[in-house]
Parts: sequence; structure tokens; C-alpha cells
Amino acid sequence: MSKQTLGFNRALGDMADALNSDITDSEKLHLLVRAAARALGVRGCSLMLLDAQRRRLFHTASHGLSERYLRKGFLEVEKSLTGILDERPVTILDVATDPRIQFQELAQQERITSILSVPVKIKGEVVGILRVYSRTRREFTAAEVQFLITVANLAAIVLESGRFEEAERQPPEAKGEPSFHPTPLTSQLNPATFAHPSEEEFARLLDFYQIEWIYEPRSFALQWEGKAAEMFTPDFYLPALDLYVEMTTLKPGLTTEKNRKVRRLRETHPEVNIKLLARRDYDRLLAKYGHGPLAGAKTHGVGRVLLSAPQVQKRVRQLAKEISHDYEGRHPVLVGVLRGVFCFMADLMRYLTVPADVDFMAISYYGGGSGKAVRVTTDVGISLEGRHILLVEDIVDTGMTLSFVLSHLKARNPASLQVCTLLDKRVRRLADVHLDYVGFEVPDEFLVGYGLDYQEEYRNLPFVALMERKSSNKEPQAKNYLG
Ligand code: PRP
Repeated sequence: MSKQTLGFNRALGDMADALNSDITDSEKLHLLVRAAARALGVRGCSLMLLDAQRRRLFHTASHGLSERYLRKGFLEVEKSLTGILDERPVTILDVATDPRIQFQELAQQERITSILSVPVKIKGEVVGILRVYSRTRREFTAAEVQFLITVANLAAIVLESGRFEEAERQPPEAKGEPSFHPTPLTSQLNPATFAHPSEEEFARLLDFYQIEWIYEPRSFALQWEGKAAEMFTPDFYLPALDLYVEMTTLKPGLTTEKNRKVRRLRETHPEVNIKLLARRDYDRLLAKYGHGPLAGAKTHGVGRVLLSAPQVQKRVRQLAKEISHDYEGRHPVLVGVLRGVFCFMADLMRYLTVPADVDFMAISYYGGGSGKAVRVTTDVGISLEGRHILLVEDIVDTGMTLSFVLSHLKARNPASLQVCTLLDKRVRRLADVHLDYVGFEVPDEFLVGYGLDYQEEYRNLPFVALMERKSSNKEPQAKNYLG
């Protein structure tokens, strides 16, 4: 028996052991790709699964590839290797010259020369591909191709068993022939696939803002101890934002453990961008849309003043000066997103020393429920083609409003598009949009005044204050600042 055949047998033995163990499916897939890469003596191996629309492929479990390469984005099936959906193995001998490679430059930087790709099929249906990446130019032998096909079949067994478990968790009347949803599930809500209702609600919110998400996208090895690895699978990946989100709302008892894993992930994979959404953050996020336990909470009115009226005015004057300087010789259009922005916009306009047009737009609010997407309810009336737009916001919080509004405005072909916000609640950011002019960075507190409301109240205050949520006998402190 050749050395290579022995290596294949050993790898398949290890894979069978892993499949028959009680580790999670993500861990099994991770072990499969690692063992495959080692047995074939290649740089890396990756299992990529098709999304529900069968248009894109996502790295789901991989070994030996850099974060940079994995995060290059998804592969468009149509532009990618032909043969994926025809169920054939495909070899690329040289990525530098093969036109079927979508990320040629990145592949070269990754020192990848040849790629072998085989389909992953469940009961005859292609659900993804398994790829190996070689540093040197390599023509894979029939035995090597056959070995990779066998590994792809083992991966399919893991994926299929996940489906079986999922079906078993459903009530008897919901059973029947469950349809297979390969992880990643992209913007496809299926309650049975979420570990907790809070995750489902979060996915709905992302859907509303048309932010693509992948549930439990991939597992990271936090440390290796012999063959066993400590793995961590974040709850969501938002490809357009290149952001992983871990929610700690599941069970309070798990929070410490999750915090530890996130810390460890940041140490072992410093290039990974991950945000921890704790229960408190999540409740505050939902309250913003009138949902969750904090929505409609009893308040004692306005609490501590964060930014006094003179402080606000001073900063608005400074911003207007900067903007007037930068827009000298141009005639910008200031676009505000209703309604909170009206105070700031009115003051900013009056301090500008360059001529400027002004217009407003409004967008729909997230009201819960699936199948809804944010839309523009009132659009800008002025023609924006070739104009210099300055988008004006009162506050940028998650950044989801801004990210949607900016893509809407970009489609109007402006000459330039910049953003000015009075307040930046950076700590809550999900969509990390670039801000050109920022008045103040503010803490993660519920703020009212100077256009910002709590249930439509307090917009008329000339200062920015914190809402007093806790029960307290004290009179609202901000009263002193009124009048
Ligand atoms: C506020 C603000 C922004 C948005 C920012 O509007 O005016 O448009 O929130 O939040 P985000 O960064 O999390 O998307 P709000 O929805 O409170 O409506 P309003 O302006 O009518 O008060």
C-alpha cells in the first residue's frame, strides 16, 4: 500500500471517529476539512455551501486559509467555476491565468496556485462544494479526486444529520419531509433553525434594513489540544459589514462563558471583527423600535443633561464653519432624515456661510414581523444628479438607517455624498458607515431633546439629556435647564 493510500485510510478513519463522536456538527465539519487538507498535503481546504437561492457560495468550514482570504466575500455561482451545479469535479491548474477565478489577486496573494473542487451532494442534490488549495501547480490524480469526493460525502452526512435533528425538534404535526436548508441560511427565516427567539427577532431586524446575514456562519478554533479543539461559532455574520455578532441573550448563565470565548477569539483571530450583543444592548435596541421589555418603560422624565443648550449651539457653529470651509465654491444640498433632525438642520443651515439647498426624506420604521423591508416614505424632491449632497442626521446609532439612506442616495448619482451627524453613538454601531462631520460622541444611553424623542415627547428641549428610566423620588434634574 502506498504512503498516500495509507494516509487516506488514516484520515478517513479519523473522520469516521469524529462523525461518531458527540462533538457539534460545526466541529465535525472543521475536523473533516482539516484532515482532508493534511492527507492531500495541500495548503488548505474549505467547505462552501450554497445559499437558499443557490446563487452564492459561502465558506462554512475551512482549514489553512487566512482570514483575509475567507472574508473576501461570497462566490457568485454564475461567475464561479462551471461544473459546480453540473456535479463534476473541477481542477484549476493555475489561478493566475484561469478566467474562472473571481478573486484572482487575492488567491495569488494567498499563494494558491491550483484548486480542486468537488460537489457536495445530499441525495443527488448539490448543496455546495468542497475545495482544496495547493501552493504549487498540481494535477490531482484520480485517487486524490476520489478521496475528496469521499470526504464531500462524509460532509453531506453531517449536514444531513443536522437536518434530521432539526426535524426531530419540531412538533409531530410539523414533521413530514423537511426541506434542507444548508447553513448558512441567508435572510431566510425559519424559526426551527434559531436557538432562541431573540436571534430570530434580530434576523428580522436585519432583514428589514436589508442587511444580509448568515446564521452560525463558521466555527473558529480557539485552541488546539492534541486532536480536540475548543471551537466557537458566532451567531451571525453580516457579510456586507464584515461583522460577526454574538448574542448573549440566550441564558444569562452562559454570558460569562460567551464573553470569555469572544475575548479568546479576539486574541487568536485579531483580524476578526466581532460584536457582542448583551441582553441589555439587545433590549435597548428593540426598545428603539417599540419592542421588547424596555419598550414603553415607565420613566420619570428627563434626567441628567448631557449637552447643555450653549454646548450644542457652540458645536453646531463649529461644524457649520468646517462645512462652509470645505464646501467653499460648491453649492451643496443638505438632506435630512426626518423627524429627529429638524432642530439640528435648522441651526446648522443658519450658521452656514455657503449657499445651500435643503430637503428632507423619511423612511419607514421597523415594526416587527417578517417579510417587511425598509422603504422610503417621503423622498427628496430636488434633483440630486451631479449635486454635492451632505446628509444630515441627528444621531447615528446602529448605522442601519444611514447605511440604507446612503445607498438610496448613491443611486441618484450625486457628484459627492458626505455625512454630518450631531451625535454619534459609536458604541452601538453595527453598520460601520463613514461619518465626515461629527458633533459629539455620546454614550449608550437613551437620549432626548434637540429633536430626539421618547414616544414623541421631549423633541422641543433645547439641550440633549438622558431619560430617567429608574424609579426615583427625585424631581427630574433637567427642569433647572428649562426656560
Ligand atoms: C433616529 C435618527 C436616525 C436613526 C438612527 O431616528 O434620527 O435616523 O434613529 O438610528 P440607527 O443608526 O440605529 O439606524 P428615529 O428612528 O428615532 O426616528 P425619528 O427621527 O423620527 O425620531
